Amino acid sequence: MTLDTTPWPGSIAGIAYGGDYTPEQWPESVWVEDVRLMREAHVSLVTVGVFAWARSQPHPDTWDLGWLDRAMDLLADNGIAVDLATGTASPPPWFSRRHPDSLPVDARGTRLGIGSRQHICPSSPAFAEAATARVERLAAHVAGHPALVMWHIGNEYGDHVTACYCDVSAAHFRSWLRARYGTLDALNEAWCASVWSGLYGDWEELMPPRAAPGPILPALQLDYRRFSSDALLACFERERTILARITPDIPATTNFMRPNPGIDHWRWALREDIVSCDLYPDPLDPDAEVEMAFAHDLMRSLGRGRPWLVMEQAMAAVDWRPVNIPQEAAVVRRRNLAAVGRGADGLLFFQWRGSPGGPEMLHSAMLPPGGTTTRGWTSAVALGADLRRLAEVAGSRCPPAQVCLLVDWESWWALEQEGHPSDALRYRDLALRTYRPLRDRGFAVDMRHPEDDLSGYRLVVVPNLFLVSVRTAERLTAFARDGGIVVIGPFSGVVDAQLRLPGGHHPGQLRDLLGIAIEEWWPIPNGRVSIATSSGDAAQGAIWRDLIDLVSAEAVAWYTDGDLEGMPAITRARVGDGQAWYAGTLLDDAGMAWLIREATEAAGVAALVTVPPGVDVLVRQGPDARYVFLIERTGAETHVPLHDIRGTDLLTGVSVGGEVRLGPNGVMVIREVGRRGSAHP
Ligand code: GLA
Repeated sequence: MTLDTTPWPGSIAGIAYGGDYTPEQWPESVWVEDVRLMREAHVSLVTVGVFAWARSQPHPDTWDLGWLDRAMDLLADNGIAVDLATGTASPPPWFSRRHPDSLPVDARGTRLGIGSRQHICPSSPAFAEAATARVERLAAHVAGHPALVMWHIGNEYGDHVTACYCDVSAAHFRSWLRARYGTLDALNEAWCASVWSGLYGDWEELMPPRAAPGPILPALQLDYRRFSSDALLACFERERTILARITPDIPATTNFMRPNPGIDHWRWALREDIVSCDLYPDPLDPDAEVEMAFAHDLMRSLGRGRPWLVMEQAMAAVDWRPVNIPQEAAVVRRRNLAAVGRGADGLLFFQWRGSPGGPEMLHSAMLPPGGTTTRGWTSAVALGADLRRLAEVAGSRCPPAQVCLLVDWESWWALEQEGHPSDALRYRDLALRTYRPLRDRGFAVDMRHPEDDLSGYRLVVVPNLFLVSVRTAERLTAFARDGGIVVIGPFSGVVDAQLRLPGGHHPGQLRDLLGIAIEEWWPIPNGRVSIATSSGDAAQGAIWRDLIDLVSAEAVAWYTDGDLEGMPAITRARVGDGQAWYAGTLLDDAGMAWLIREATEAAGVAALVTVPPGVDVLVRQGPDARYVFLIERTGAETHVPLHDIRGTDLLTGVSVGGEVRLGPNGVMVIREVGRRGSAHP
């Protein structure tokens, strides 16, 4: 198996482990204890300086990087590598006072204040200038430092401020629109601006979608999301370009979130050397488990299979939800090992040492205020020890999957706009519901952008494609014609890339592929409707129904009650050598499981082993060995038949084969020597 080249820092041995480290918040005497304890916990990588701009430039003309030198020297002396933040996510108060125009403005016209973070208009020239100067100076200062292995640009772009609505942003938006459309006629046409007398006659009339008396042009809203993602990306790019010039050998990342609906991760990931993500599952959220697995697969896929990094997570509780329940240590452990099983080569936490005060003083940490007698600390040390045992897994790769899930930020944005038959159809819900049965049945899943090359996959699953470009429709059709199986979720194919109706019956560009015609949608305001499948299974649908007429497709599931009784709920069309399935409702777990079972069978894909309920089986392939991760995720003891898998559990050193017992939240990582190149379905 060929492993593509990776910019992963070679100086980090094994799986990177650590967290956000904030020496600027502590006297230097504490640093000595920090590095001693970091070594005890097997910490190998820390993120430094995410919010240290004010500490390193206390006044416009005063720089102090001495503390950073001393902290980085100390870390280097102790064999701990640094992911150095450019620190531009929170400009100091002096900057905001000098440049009040750099503060972001919300859609109601309120200029936001300081005292928090991300108080930046992404289009601010003053911010661009100051960030440029800062990054130039910082990079030149630390270039060649032995601790520096990675750059951490900004922080969680699009978290607090996804978009700014100020006049400067408006001007920036206009130039973005000019580049996109060229002429006002083209823009008016694309936006369907004649509706509600909205034709633009001068570029200066174009404004961000500020608070208005009623609904705002959908295409304007969508373009503002595209623009805002790009405006933030330009901030990232500005810093990235400087760093690539001054420290060309140091890879750069920025931390995605969860994933975050605010920024189009596909466009961003192209610009990153290493994809990283902050993962804060809510212990009270029943979807948290599946969301974590989804995020892991997405991060690996965004990096096109390269190793990725959990940049932040909580060792126990966060402090920013209305109710903050700590996560169990065993759950944190197995989720982290699952991240490794899904391709992560680094696990970092927020944060190393809990803050001495401030907004996050009650957030959990690897080293809580109670020190080394705390549960947090014990968990941190134990996880560090586990990761040392898995060191040889680093650098191996998850084999390409045979199943691919299409994830599309543009459809996410457009789907959730107002003016639709129901506002209860949410992209995240659709994506997680669609992904869940694939995860449950043990299929490896890659994620792809709708316009990506799909050859190589046997099954392409599309939770929703409200917005479909001609190119995407062509790709999906060619994929099916060549023998692939496509499954598409409800309310898809409604608009084109400009948010215009393609004309004729829905689902527009997907009509021929799916062999159906949809005239209307019939949402379900409350409760569920019953469905019977062609194989006699019962399922339910909720929230949504497409009113489907069969053209060339056949129905494979029908509503058995409600006002659409007898109408198709799920259809299947034969396309060339393949098939295209359509689910016209939000299926419950039983319905999704049936659909995925049928589709995977049609596609001829099978899991590596028959996975008992509640167990993840994940595979990484190295040059000389295959690593099979078995992870119990429901908190119950279980037994896993291994079939022909046998080898050594790296976490215990015990030889395993036949059938193994996994305790609640138990994990095994089986090294099979000599297993090469076998693809995991
Ligand atoms: C985010 C931020 C961190 C910290 C954590 C707390 O992920 O990036 O700086 O505030 O949240 O959970």
